[in-house]
Amino acid sequence: MADAPLVERFRASWDEIAPIGRDPGSGGYLRYAWTEPELRLREWFRRQAALRGLPVESDGNGNLFAWYAPAGADGPAVLLGSHFDSVPHGGGYDGPLGIVSALLALDEVRARGLDPRRPVGVAAFAEEEGSRFGVPCLGSRLLTGALDAERAAALTDRDGVTLAEAMGGRPAGARPELLARVGAFVELHIEQGRALVDLGAPVGVASGIWPHGRWRLDVTGEANHAGTTRMADRHDPMLTFAFAVLAANKEARLRDAHATVGRVLVEPNATNAIPALVRGWLDARAADAATLDGLVDAVRRRVDERAARDGTAVAWTAESVTPPVAFDGGLAGELGRLLGGGVPVLPTAAGHDAGVLSAHVPTAMLFVRNPTGVSHSPAEAATDADCAAGVAALADVLAELACRP
Ligand code: GLV
Ligand code: MN
Ligand code: MN
Repeated sequence: MADAPLVERFRASWDEIAPIGRDPGSGGYLRYAWTEPELRLREWFRRQAALRGLPVESDGNGNLFAWYAPAGADGPAVLLGSHFDSVPHGGGYDGPLGIVSALLALDEVRARGLDPRRPVGVAAFAEEEGSRFGVPCLGSRLLTGALDAERAAALTDRDGVTLAEAMGGRPAGARPELLARVGAFVELHIEQGRALVDLGAPVGVASGIWPHGRWRLDVTGEANHAGTTRMADRHDPMLTFAFAVLAANKEARLRDAHATVGRVLVEPNATNAIPALVRGWLDARAADAATLDGLVDAVRRRVDERAARDGTAVAWTAESVTPPVAFDGGLAGELGRLLGGGVPVLPTAAGHDAGVLSAHVPTAMLFVRNPTGVSHSPAEAATDADCAAGVAALADVLAELACRP
């Protein structure tokens, strides 16, 4: 297999992980952090590292690092990687593609007979999607100190399990000495839109990430009988919530921004009862921080007014807010030059561990074309040929960053 064409080696690795956590009904993935499928993927990662003779280090925050440091390799490491976890019924490429590609890119560099002068790491970051504990990029935020370990330990999942319980102990929190060992981080990721399809290019380079955040909205009203309560006497939180969804959509459109309410809980959740509580999550993103602030402020103001008319109460909680990211001009520019002047350079409105690391380490991202342009859905796609092109590009980047004198 070691001599097989890259596209076949990609397919062989992909076939090993493709069944893990796949829901036969939707065809999407249920790979939540520290649940059985995600733990099986971590085991797969450890086995892959062992096959390559790479020791695996855990940072105490759920993140794994496989290190390749041949004799003579010294100085700040080049780190590649991404995450294994998925959103509910998400696609298989979002995250794992970056880890599989990193392992294969390292194989490529070694097969080319190149000797890294600097250590090379492959990272598997934990809970990037925030699907289980609500905070996206949880592992990289803990590692960098962007998220306090005490606060993180107490986060709960939908069943009331704390992060500390899920991890089997309190997270270690910031690891500045580990970060100081990293000289550059490059995350390869499936593209989550159609830019590369439209440009006819298999691979692109990221320019930056839009600022984005998650706000929880708790609307409380008065539970009552659906049949006997006069319309004028109701304090129905569903009305306030419905207004919030429409207001968020309108305010986002007015600003060329994005707003989504994709998750909602209703109590008591009965067909014939006016709800007591509607809890929803607003995901909002914009091209710059002022636009994002303006969007969220406008939605809050309008929802608060509406709640006063409905006789309901609204509490807003910012669960995570991520500032804009401009990837290191030097490194992103270098990738562009390395991969040929014409390689597309794209902004993205999706969050990534690379965005969190970029505040500490020169960071860049590569995107691989997604023919459907769809992500966070089973419809997410990539061809094996494009994935192999992504690995080859990542190997070129690795060879340059890790092997040049
Ligand atoms: C990560 O995928 C995000 O939601 O931005
Ligand atoms: Mn994602
Ligand atoms: Mn991702």
